[in-house]
Amino acid sequence: LPGFEYLNGDLHFDGQSVSKLAAQFKTPLYVYSERLIQERYESYVRGAAGRRVQICFAVKANSNLSVLRLLAGLGAGADIVSGGELYRCQKAGMPSSKIVFSGVGKTDDEIEAALQAQIMLFSVESAEELNRLSALAARSGQRAPVSLRMNPDVDAKTHPYISTGLKANKFGIPYTEFDAMIDHAQTLPGIELSGFGYHIGSQLTDVSGFEEAALRGKELARRFLEKMGKLPFLDAGGGLGIRYKGEAPPEPEQYVRRILSILDFPETTILFEPGRSIVGSAGALLTTILFRKENEEKTFYICDAAMNDLIRPALYSAYHEILPAREDRVSDRNPLRRGDLVGPVCETGDFLARDRDLPHFEQSDIAALATTGAYGFVMASNYNSRPRPAEVMIAGGKPVLIRRRETLDGLISAELDLS
Ligand code: LLP
Repeated sequence: LPGFEYLNGDLHFDGQSVSKLAAQFKTPLYVYSERLIQERYESYVRGAAGRRVQICFAVKANSNLSVLRLLAGLGAGADIVSGGELYRCQKAGMPSSKIVFSGVGKTDDEIEAALQAQIMLFSVESAEELNRLSALAARSGQRAPVSLRMNPDVDAKTHPYISTGLKANKFGIPYTEFDAMIDHAQTLPGIELSGFGYHIGSQLTDVSGFEEAALRGKELARRFLEKMGKLPFLDAGGGLGIRYKGEAPPEPEQYVRRILSILDFPETTILFEPGRSIVGSAGALLTTILFRKENEEKTFYICDAAMNDLIRPALYSAYHEILPAREDRVSDRNPLRRGDLVGPVCETGDFLARDRDLPHFEQSDIAALATTGAYGFVMASNYNSRPRPAEVMIAGGKPVLIRRRETLDGLISAELDLS
């Protein structure tokens, strides 16, 4: 697990003692490593050497302003899916000229904000969306730069909830309608047709799905070039997986090289939209064990983090490695035991680990849930009126608070008390 090591029996993440972080910032706490984020981003950049490529970080994976600012500083652009993400990018100094706006359901307000910002590209997913975008752009005397999001009908072989490139999924335009969409786009006054793209799913650990999609992409690129004469942008999507438990995905560098070798259009800017593979392994969720209880079947470790803080286990049966802050919690004398790590939320689905061999935690122990830098905090909610966790970035060898723990006043701040 990148970033983790035991020093004198005490778990460290990116050089910082996990127990000390928990004592200083309290738990539940998300901790990110600037160094690890940077390393992953740079692996993408190495893979892109010698080609026209723009890496657009998928903001949905982790939208903290400090994370966005860090990536913007390294040269990344952004893949956004809402007006909220656009707003965050603007606040974090992300250049609009590197922003691509994806998503099946853009509202007028969101489209107008993006037009105003003069973003690089709108990734359009339907004929109706294209018409609407054209009308709104034309109204303000603009032509919106568009990439048609195609559905390549490729099986990403990932969890069905995060597979997006099949006919059965709501995403993209059927690739059989490609030519017709190109013709239609050219009749619209507010559209500057600039390319096309695809995205087949997330947490792909095998390149074969990516290769299949790229081969289809290559075919479409030739058709686009035939009709349009030039192909400014080809968006190869995101989706590269990471190691949660034994998976062996390629490094970003290898993956990018492989895809670029298939998409051999040197004049075209190839976009990649990685989220998870940049931030996923660079984050951990720290939690404190509140109580332990045992029945005939197993042990329940009840901690102060819950499904509202990290929903991936409940939603996708996701696996996150669990590391005790004290190394001696696992030893020959103290073997792993069958158990669940659960939170305080009143739902049976509120577990962070179920039926797993876990360290025999004791009350007040700190545990780290690894590989939670992507789709962790961003999917947190206030269910059970639980304030969302704080976030810390380890930067320049020091932990820096990058989001305060939500307060009780913050919980109710948008409510109107009709008394
Ligand atoms: N581009 C598009 C159009 C996407 O829909 C997504 C992810 C990405 C890029 C970034 O994919 P990544 O590189 O992060 O795999 N909440 C789920 C993941 C949902 C992904 C949705 N789309 C999870 O926790 O596993």
